[in-house]
Amino acid sequence: MKKRNLTILGLQWGDEGKGKVVDYFAAGVDIVVRFGGGANAGHTVVNENDKFILHLLPSGILHPKVKCYMGGGMVVDLLDLFKELEEIKAKGIKYEKRLFIDHTTHLVLPQHKAIEKYIESLNKSSSINTTMKGIGPTYSDKANRIGIIASDIIEEKHLLDRIANFILKRSLDLVAVNDKSLKIPRNLLEYLKKYSPQVRDMLVDTPFELRKAIKENKRILFEGAQGSLLDIDLGTYPYVTSSNTTIGGLFTGTGMPPGVQGEVLGVVKAYTTRVGNGPFPTELDNDIGENLREKGGEYGATTGRSRRTGWLDLALVKRTAYMSGVSKLIVTKLDVLDGLDEIKICIGYYYNSKLYDFPPLYSSFMEKVEPLYHTVKGWKKPTAGITDFDQLPDEAKHYINFIEKNTEVPVGYISTGSDRKDFIEIA
Ligand code: GDP
Ligand code: IMO
Ligand code: MG
Repeated sequence: MKKRNLTILGLQWGDEGKGKVVDYFAAGVDIVVRFGGGANAGHTVVNENDKFILHLLPSGILHPKVKCYMGGGMVVDLLDLFKELEEIKAKGIKYEKRLFIDHTTHLVLPQHKAIEKYIESLNKSSSINTTMKGIGPTYSDKANRIGIIASDIIEEKHLLDRIANFILKRSLDLVAVNDKSLKIPRNLLEYLKKYSPQVRDMLVDTPFELRKAIKENKRILFEGAQGSLLDIDLGTYPYVTSSNTTIGGLFTGTGMPPGVQGEVLGVVKAYTTRVGNGPFPTELDNDIGENLREKGGEYGATTGRSRRTGWLDLALVKRTAYMSGVSKLIVTKLDVLDGLDEIKICIGYYYNSKLYDFPPLYSSFMEKVEPLYHTVKGWKKPTAGITDFDQLPDEAKHYINFIEKNTEVPVGYISTGSDRKDFIEIA
């Protein structure tokens, strides 16, 4: 029988617990492929022995038999990548011959980070509050057609031509940055050349390799990064990242055809968080929000920033689940809601007396809406660590059922703790 592939996407503003979920499902696949984003991601995986925070590496890397691909839709900072590899190596993880980078993956350069720092400092009130990982400028240069891709660093003369072109065409921004060393092509050449031998060993043509794997009946897990609401086209623009985090990004970021995604699992935190600027209609700027932050450990895995917290917003989840064709939801961090007297769930927005239950996402609209809440009773018995749906308190079961009914997508799994084992599979 043909094995079914899997896709895992975050349905909110990121940090839904994708790392934990991908690690859990990676035990049953042959290959994990990341298709977008860069070191702006912070995916936490907790296993029996240790805790890992992965930024660029696919969350399948902790399973010794799983091959991991970094697809062409990603942007990779080689400095960060090799630092991350050192870290996992120090914890006993071997990655040689099972970690691959697509030829066409764009490289994040020191210039990109400097340009981002400059742009973000221009006007604090309109800043995106990015992760400062050079993501925006790197994807801009991809679109500008002046970026440097992984395969460019193999041959020195070619690389120098690409570098000269990049520095020339980015010269206006580099004048603004005012760091002379960033304008010297030889400096960038020396920086990239250092990585050339190791990168060469990892370079692959992802569409070729994955097509072959599918013919051999290998099972692939496509790992989303960031959340759907941060999608450059479909998210809360302009407060988004610069890549496609929804299902379309899978196809352009790997070169795979529609159909290959298999079952699409959407990860939803039992409440909402957002890190960075931008509208957040269900935000709780009070003790309840503070309590969620403390109990849920809502501090950025990449930057350590405090995450903003709020009630679950199903108006948003319904839309993002639909846009990516999600077949099942995975509700995470249910345990963080343990002990609340009552819990609110947003099911739509009022704007100019009109109700939107599948709202548009552009920021100037989102900033003005008034959430419509459904209030449910909280549960007093803890859910933390429960692995059987029947053991959940009735109120928690009701919460899950309400999510299913409102989003029109069944909940297949529930996470009740950060550990691999704290997971419910609903039959
Ligand atoms: P990601 O970016 O989607 O992979 O999520 P992050 O790793 O940035 O943030 C999720 C955080 O919640 C991490 O600290 C996880 O260890 C933790 N976590 C994941 N699932 C659960 C859960 O069900 N309950 C609790 N309490 N923590 C969880
Ligand atoms: P994971 O994969 C949460 C946010 C940033 C900022 C905006 C743009 O861990 O879920 P960028 O550096 O991408 O240009 O920043 O997007 N952001 C994330 N928020 N989780 C993430 O990734 C994020 N990646 C980017 O905070 O608001
Ligand atoms: Mg994260």
